[in-house]
Amino acid sequence: MKTLDRTVFTQNHLVGISDLSPDEISLILNIADDYAGRMKEHKFKCDVLKGAIILTLFFEDSTRTRVSFEMAAKRLGADVVTMDVRTSSLNKGETFSDTIVTLNAMKPDGIVIRHNEYNAPSYVANRVDCPVINAGDSYREHPTQALLDALTMRQHFGKLDGLSVSIVGDIAHSRVANSNMMLLTKMGAKVKLVAPSVLMPEKTVVPNIPCFDNVKDGLKDADVVMTIRPQKERMQNVMIDDAAYYRDFGMTHEKLAYAKKEAILLDPGPYIRNLQISDAMADDATRFHYTQQVSNGIAVRMAVMDLLIGRK
Ligand code: NCD
Repeated sequence: MKTLDRTVFTQNHLVGISDLSPDEISLILNIADDYAGRMKEHKFKCDVLKGAIILTLFFEDSTRTRVSFEMAAKRLGADVVTMDVRTSSLNKGETFSDTIVTLNAMKPDGIVIRHNEYNAPSYVANRVDCPVINAGDSYREHPTQALLDALTMRQHFGKLDGLSVSIVGDIAHSRVANSNMMLLTKMGAKVKLVAPSVLMPEKTVVPNIPCFDNVKDGLKDADVVMTIRPQKERMQNVMIDDAAYYRDFGMTHEKLAYAKKEAILLDPGPYIRNLQISDAMADDATRFHYTQQVSNGIAVRMAVMDLLIGRK
């Protein structure tokens, strides 16, 4: 029986998986599962956020996360205001802090923020009167991505506890890998990291995670393989050779065969064909559950906004 008891949820913001208890994670996934089912209805819309105005602030590029938050808010009946950061007064010399004070004075009911600075969502959360949701900050955390990944795994396997998940790629620069490591270990899954040594962090956010420099050992017994894009925009003093990366870590059917026979492949996107994933692998929807992840992204963000903003 899936609990929908909202009293277990004590958060005022969602800035990271690090703040969530296993019960809070389960509750978000349970509500999200409900929304995922209801989204199958044509033109599904409800009034959980009716009258609310959600402000989205994206200081970094985004396709799916921004659209997903906006569609989630609208399906819940909210209006969405998107600040165009490129044409904002930050370019005229206003400080970030003053911009936040200004926007807060307009009384949004919720703020969704993506920022390249470490912990920027907490900085904002401490200065505004409404819930703040982290849509990805620096390489630190991307909580709603880990939640949608978890929902996709849970729908497929019926559980998270005991699953074996191998995360392959640029772990060192990945907020997605960090949030996933925290979420999965909190929920009883086993995580392995697989990366070339230059893309493996010196210290992992969760201690004692087994690390591998080759897919043969790293994918052994995996139920889920998650590929992570080489995030060249965040690399300093590191160069990777694309051909060598693809040869050693690019996901193909041959490499996926090192995992369990029924293993599924996930990727947060954007995925880069023939660097991270072969064409044949990317086009194999029986193994690569990417579109399910994207759909679940909306359901998870609806659940998070419902809990934080909808029913106070
Ligand atoms: C990721 C991100 O921006 O952190 N994408 C996403 O939100 N789905 C991963 C990436 O950029 O590689």
